[in-house]
Amino acid sequence: MNRAIVFIFGIFISTITWGQNKSEIAIIPQPVKVEQKSGFFSLPQNITIHAAGITELKQTVTYLEKRLSVPTGKKVSVSANAPAALIKLELNKTADASLGNEGYRLSVTPKNIIIKANKPAGIFYGVQTLMQLFPKEIESGEKISGVTWKTPCVEITDYPRFGWRGLMFDVSRHFFTKQEVKAYIDQMAKYKFNLLHLHLTDDEGWRIEIKSLPKLTQIGAWRAYRVGQFGTFPPPTPDEPRDYGGFYTHEDIKELVQYAKDRFVNIMPEVDVPGHSLAAIAAYPELSCSDGVKNIGVSSGESIKDWSTHTAIYDDNLCPSNEKVYDFLDKVMTEIAALFPFEYIHVGGDETFKTFWKSSEAITALMQKENLKTYEEVQGYFEKKLEKIVESKGKKFMGWDEILEGGIGPTAAVMSWRGAHDGVVGAGATANISGGEVAAKSGHYVVMSPTEYAYLDYMQSDRIMEPHVYASLRLSKAYSFNPMPSSLTGEEQKFVLGAQGNLWTEQVFTFRQAQYMTWPRAFAIAEDTWSPVENKNWDDFVRRTEAQFERFDIEEVKYAPSMYDPDFIVSKSSDGELKIELKNEVNGLDTYYSFDNSYPDRFYPKYNQPLSVPKFATQLKVITYRSKKPIGRMISMPISELKSRVK
Ligand code: ACM
Repeated sequence: MNRAIVFIFGIFISTITWGQNKSEIAIIPQPVKVEQKSGFFSLPQNITIHAAGITELKQTVTYLEKRLSVPTGKKVSVSANAPAALIKLELNKTADASLGNEGYRLSVTPKNIIIKANKPAGIFYGVQTLMQLFPKEIESGEKISGVTWKTPCVEITDYPRFGWRGLMFDVSRHFFTKQEVKAYIDQMAKYKFNLLHLHLTDDEGWRIEIKSLPKLTQIGAWRAYRVGQFGTFPPPTPDEPRDYGGFYTHEDIKELVQYAKDRFVNIMPEVDVPGHSLAAIAAYPELSCSDGVKNIGVSSGESIKDWSTHTAIYDDNLCPSNEKVYDFLDKVMTEIAALFPFEYIHVGGDETFKTFWKSSEAITALMQKENLKTYEEVQGYFEKKLEKIVESKGKKFMGWDEILEGGIGPTAAVMSWRGAHDGVVGAGATANISGGEVAAKSGHYVVMSPTEYAYLDYMQSDRIMEPHVYASLRLSKAYSFNPMPSSLTGEEQKFVLGAQGNLWTEQVFTFRQAQYMTWPRAFAIAEDTWSPVENKNWDDFVRRTEAQFERFDIEEVKYAPSMYDPDFIVSKSSDGELKIELKNEVNGLDTYYSFDNSYPDRFYPKYNQPLSVPKFATQLKVITYRSKKPIGRMISMPISELKSRVK
């Protein structure tokens, strides 16, 4: 054999060896440091786990036992014999400073797997990373045969960027059962989220039993059933049943809190007041300034506010001048504080349209008595009294940006939803500085959840493809979110606790749709809050997202394939012709199209420059491919729709 042939043969052999000894790692959120080694660890028939400090690691061991035994059918036992165990979970005796409370080191060699951390949360997150190293079938809820259960050898060091990594789930607009909330927590835990914010009350339903105020759930948890476009429904007729909804009992809440705790997730309750309180007012009309005169009951998705003028059509505000309101809130907070161990109670405070306060004599009298100059200060008066109630229960007070508008106590924390660029300003926020920055600069702890990056209720691709909501949030935009504003000084940065995505559910009628809206954008939020900024890489994130999609297929969790839909960018050329530009957010896709109403495939024209519309065409149909495989959805876009979009 001559030397050139030997050389080529050598490359060939080493490529095969590489292929056999390494496999692609696709972890979300991307860890701080991953070193892949050659070789694999294979699960034997009998898997032994050793967990030093077993009581503290009990829930993680139980979790791991189940995750390993169910899909593999293998026997998993807990071993007292540390050296012989295959999977070792070890709490550090001396703290490893770089790991903090949630970091871990994971070492996989052909012989064993070792996860080390300072605290049990770190071990749990190491287990989550380990699960993502196993074949996707590890996500199966039943035994799967014919899989080689192995993981690549690695050394991983990992810890989070932020301590607050959350998702908000609105269980008021539509009620989601305890089992569904548990399923939501299961998915969150896999991606190292540690905070579930439950939006428990709103105009459409009061979802938590308050034993001292039984009407809240006897009346406030039920409305008429509707499907279609939420916000446009007619009011229920007098004889129409109000039997759609539900609520969590104290026992349900205790079970959920424990379930979440076992997965290192805290639950933060939100009681949204003084606005968004129609369900409470339906139960206790005397809580509004208009005394229930226009009490329409719990909203069933009819139009109750005029969003263009910020006026209320029906009064959904609690009345700050009424002492009974504070007695009511004291009772609510007493029970909420006892049920949720988390340090914060979120009290809402958003979108309190002051329409009915303006016509209330009681509010005018309060303003005179307390020297309140504006209706924002009236809300400020309410918030300060509520802050005292919350603190009297041993809890910290948190609310949406608006609580800043009328002045708040120094220890109040802010959840900032109004980004700098979405045109919603106030409380010091302007078109250039967000409510979150204002909060941090004025020394309030803040969680960032701006509409422009973190609103999971927004549409994920073109509006003809998604249930209609008033705005869009593409996956790539969610992935570009940096929760730490660059305008903050080092001192001010300490006030940024972290960030979360918010799933409002006006237009989310089922749990499958809640999953669809959450994933994959919550992968982006997971990475925005966990991974170092310098490790972020869009193309690689897409690769890893696709690997998670395969896992979701096995688990039968729904997700949105919207990232494969192109954007349609329309303009008029100088001769008045419609020009259509198609833009994919995922790189490397080909887009094929037709104007003749037939369904395009890859033998149709490929998009490579802005399109002009043939004279009599009525539809543009497009589909994206990766190589020879269709990957996007078939989109049928009416030309009339595109024309209506040209400014
Ligand atoms: C909000 O989106 N109204 C907090």
